[in-house]
Amino acid sequence: MCGIVGFSSKTTSAVGPLVNGLSRLEYRGYDSAGVALASAEGLRIYKQTGKVAKLAQLLERALPERERAKYTLGIAHTRWATHGLPTVANAHPHVADGGRLALVHNGIIENYAALRAGLEKRGVKFLSQTDTEVLAHLVAAFDKGDFLAAVCDALKRVEGTYGLAAISARHPGEMVVARKGSPLVIGIGEKDVVVASDVSAIVAYTRQVIYLKDGDVAMITPDGVDIHSLDNAPVAREVQEVDWDLGAIEKGGYEHFMIKEIFEQPEALANTLRGRLDAANGTALLSGLNLSPRELAAVRRLVIVGCGTSLHAGMVGKYLFESLADVPVSPEQAAEFRYSNPIVGPDDWVIALSQSGETADTLAAVRESIRKGALVSGLCNVVGSTIAREAGRGVYLHAGPEISVASTKAFTAQVTALLMTALKLGRTRRLSREAGDRLVSEISRIPDLVGKVLEQNDAIAAVAQKYAQANDLFFIGRGILYPAALEGALKIKEVAYVHAEGYQAAELKHGPIALLSEKTPVVALLANIPGKEKTLGNVQECRARNAPVLGIVTAGDASAKAVLSDAIEVPATGVELSPIVSVVALQLFAYHVARLRGCEIDQPRNLAKSVTVE
Ligand code: M6R
Repeated sequence: MCGIVGFSSKTTSAVGPLVNGLSRLEYRGYDSAGVALASAEGLRIYKQTGKVAKLAQLLERALPERERAKYTLGIAHTRWATHGLPTVANAHPHVADGGRLALVHNGIIENYAALRAGLEKRGVKFLSQTDTEVLAHLVAAFDKGDFLAAVCDALKRVEGTYGLAAISARHPGEMVVARKGSPLVIGIGEKDVVVASDVSAIVAYTRQVIYLKDGDVAMITPDGVDIHSLDNAPVAREVQEVDWDLGAIEKGGYEHFMIKEIFEQPEALANTLRGRLDAANGTALLSGLNLSPRELAAVRRLVIVGCGTSLHAGMVGKYLFESLADVPVSPEQAAEFRYSNPIVGPDDWVIALSQSGETADTLAAVRESIRKGALVSGLCNVVGSTIAREAGRGVYLHAGPEISVASTKAFTAQVTALLMTALKLGRTRRLSREAGDRLVSEISRIPDLVGKVLEQNDAIAAVAQKYAQANDLFFIGRGILYPAALEGALKIKEVAYVHAEGYQAAELKHGPIALLSEKTPVVALLANIPGKEKTLGNVQECRARNAPVLGIVTAGDASAKAVLSDAIEVPATGVELSPIVSVVALQLFAYHVARLRGCEIDQPRNLAKSVTVE
């Protein structure tokens, strides 16, 4: 949530890199945006509500090209509002010391009210309602000539989370950045240093990066980077190479990132699978799990934690692990889990699912599980992310960067990774060699099967026209397709702003069926797996109430189609793969409905890609 960029150079103007960086991070929040630019004459601040493009226009008007060269140092921010409305006053950067100090922040300062009251008593005037402004004034108050020390002293008074960057006219050429709980990456270019909340804002300049860890504070100048602890002890952090390039984070001819990422799935899933299937032994390799057969055999219970789409993938995981590995599984919403004083211990294996690897509640669940002595693994997409690092073991999804706020390829990659993990766990327990062989061959078909669903794109776009006007939709599924129904409902809610609910197919008649009418369509997940006939019975109940029913059916399933108003075909698969092909169809359906309704698909209102606050 919120994106931070900082740029420091001896020769290059910071204006372009800061605005470009913000546009790459806009998916993290888009309520307002701002920059602070430093020159020998002091700081200049520009802020605007709305998207980065509006800030860019403001800069075009306010700062002619010839004036930009003198600003070789700057910080910038795109905001997802937590404290205070999305106004210009609440937009970052926030200033202190009479406009000589500027600071941008991602995270939440939990004790800001007490800190603010203390500062106000000492005569400080606040200009915003944000928690961040407190930080700016605190740093100014502690500045006795050493900028880094001032930031450290301020941060020692702070409870909460932060990724921050600060500059001050009293300290020309210096930028101080710090991290606790909110990601911050430093890119080391040949002549410039770029700081950002994630590497997507950095790869245009360099692929050499340092991932700051919690408690790190760094002094950045055009000459380099010095990292310290809050107690000012020097800290060494490894420079790593990012393994993807700019092309991966651009639209590449697609109208939206969402559709690009949906279409990337065959390749993304091939990357998730690469080198991980062991056909010789009917199992999966997954060396990153770093668990011996003895440790795997000792697992008594699995807990899968995540939020949103990742939680839905985890719910699919329950069916996979229980059927393949005979181990009981509790999928848990990460926030509920962390605050429930969870009963987990050394016999339990906690798997944290997170595309970003930065979701605050999932991270807290990881920490709580580690504290309680459970085995903990992370299934993350973003390499080097906090959850991946703190879990210490796990499976990277390798699905490539996901920019659209609506998660698509991460879901199918998560289910694929869970399926391989379940296969591996199953094969250390009771799953037979024959069953393992069948699954290896089935799993290796995933990229092609997903490609077949994508061939239905035009047909799905045509069906979407019939449903795009509905204001309410129900999604129903049974067994392993129930979480797929939840995911279908979530996708259409967030990108098309259609009220949608996912239900177990059998649950509809216990209440929600009262809402059905010819204006309330139902989307039924009817891939040909055990239980389908029963769901078809539920479809009949919906039709009897005049509700139009769109079915996601296995290609050629004439008997299912006969009871439906409309159908989208997916290729035949075994049970385990049915949520993957069904959800890809639902992703396309949500995308086309959103497009027909004229929605802002990649950046839906009120949302942000990475939820780093509780
Ligand atoms: O990065 P994570 O997978 O931890 O994110 C979890 C959710 O915030 C995320 O899946 C969210 O629900 C998406 N907007 C769904 O499309």
